[in-house]
Amino acid sequence: MSELADALLKKIESRRARTGVVGLGYVGLPLLVELAKGGFHATGIDLDTRKIDAIHQGRSYIPDVSTADVQALKNAGKLDATADFSIVAQLDTINICVPTPLRKTKDPDMSYIVSAVEAIGKHLHKGMLIVLVSTTYPGTTEKVVQPLLEATGLKAGTDFFLAFSPERVDPGNPTFQTHNVPKVVGGLTPDCARLAGALYGTAIETIVPVSSTRVAEMVKLLENTFRAVNIGLVNELALMCDKMNIDVWEVVDAAKTKPFGFMAFYPGPGLGGHCIPIDPFYLSWKAKQTGFDPRFIELAGHINAGMPHYVVEKVAEALNTKRKAVNGSNILVAGVAYKRDIDDMRESPALDVMGLLHAKGAKVSYADPYVEEVHGREWSGRYDIKSVELTRGSIGRYDCIVIVTDHKTFDYEGLVAEAELIVDTRNAIKKSYPHVFRLGAPQSVGEGANAAPT
Ligand SMILES: NC(=O)c1ccc[n+]([C@@H]2O[C@H](COP(=O)([O-])OP(=O)(O)OC[C@H]3O[C@@H](n4cnc5c(N)ncnc54)[C@H](O)[C@@H]3O)[C@@H](O)[C@H]2O)c1
Repeated sequence: MSELADALLKKIESRRARTGVVGLGYVGLPLLVELAKGGFHATGIDLDTRKIDAIHQGRSYIPDVSTADVQALKNAGKLDATADFSIVAQLDTINICVPTPLRKTKDPDMSYIVSAVEAIGKHLHKGMLIVLVSTTYPGTTEKVVQPLLEATGLKAGTDFFLAFSPERVDPGNPTFQTHNVPKVVGGLTPDCARLAGALYGTAIETIVPVSSTRVAEMVKLLENTFRAVNIGLVNELALMCDKMNIDVWEVVDAAKTKPFGFMAFYPGPGLGGHCIPIDPFYLSWKAKQTGFDPRFIELAGHINAGMPHYVVEKVAEALNTKRKAVNGSNILVAGVAYKRDIDDMRESPALDVMGLLHAKGAKVSYADPYVEEVHGREWSGRYDIKSVELTRGSIGRYDCIVIVTDHKTFDYEGLVAEAELIVDTRNAIKKSYPHVFRLGAPQSVGEGANAAPT
């Protein structure tokens, strides 16, 4: 180990190293808090001054991080935040947790990484450790981050240390949180890997070293592509089951009793969140650059992207049993967050379902205890819409209720008792009822309709 690396290792081990996190969102804030809990002085950097203000006030704005923790660490002088990158001059380590979205063309949007790294570069100094955490395509650390930082004249692996370590946070998961999810670490050189492993080892129970930054980048993409492809498979199975009058939920539940060689995935209204709908396209983009045609990713993407259309078909089918059309019907979407019991609406399939229903002339409302308002810019209806309360007595005023996100707080018994029609995309209502249309499950034909040919 070089002298410079050894000096930083000693600082990390003694907690004298000053740690920083750039990008204080769903990934960055929990990591910042874990580092502060691990005994470091931790400084968060974000361009969003509302987040900086919240930390200054000792307040958390991420459900997985408690305000009590932020308050206590702030009061103990362990936690700080700023929008000013000149603080980098005083830091020994930095984790970069900025967004990595897709452009409209489904190409990676690297602008957040580039701008954060350029801002860090202005204050980079000898002996620092920089770790890229944002999910991205293999080669980003070496081909994008390293050259930008080396433009300062300092050399990676010698003057400063560079690593990639993906985040695996599962928002809303009470069992697995930052500290007890194993952390994969790949360094540019063995010194880089050792330092990054030492830093995380202070706050995270298990470190998984891999041989390079490229391997670490690919690990994250494999994990999320695995989910996207398996969800695509089970969504296709749901479409098949619908045609074959078989209950896909019963099939998956029975299959998962096999104690080996099977992992349960469930169908749904489409992919949501900042990871599964996006990350596989980082991989397919990179693969195409090398002349490789990644077929699984594209196929799963195609099936998953079609699910909101299938949900709208189900709504039309349900309304048909009451001799009604989508056009002019009052339709309520229950749950707009991308998954149960969280407030994150990014890439939520509910927004597509609402947009498609609106385009067909439905009067669209929604209820979500976690999301107060959907702004016009967030869905294709283009107008602001506020969440309504889904209480007994109000349920019956809708022609159809579409359960898109199965929040635990919804009164499902009340829905079954009072709703005229329900389309259930999550199997939230486990049983069959004549007025409940479950995704991927058989349905008795309504009055005046004829049985479909089998
Ligand atoms: N949310 C998840 O569940 C999750 C899980 C694993 C990995 N990831 C990955 O982690 C990364 C961050 O995701 P997130 O969900 O935390 O995003 P987020 O949008 O919640 O947070 C990103 C933060 O970065 C800030 N930011 C943007 N540009 C900046 C800049 N130039 N300088 C400083 N701050 C800047 C934003 O203001 C925001 O607060 C992404 O690459 C994502 O794919 C996310």
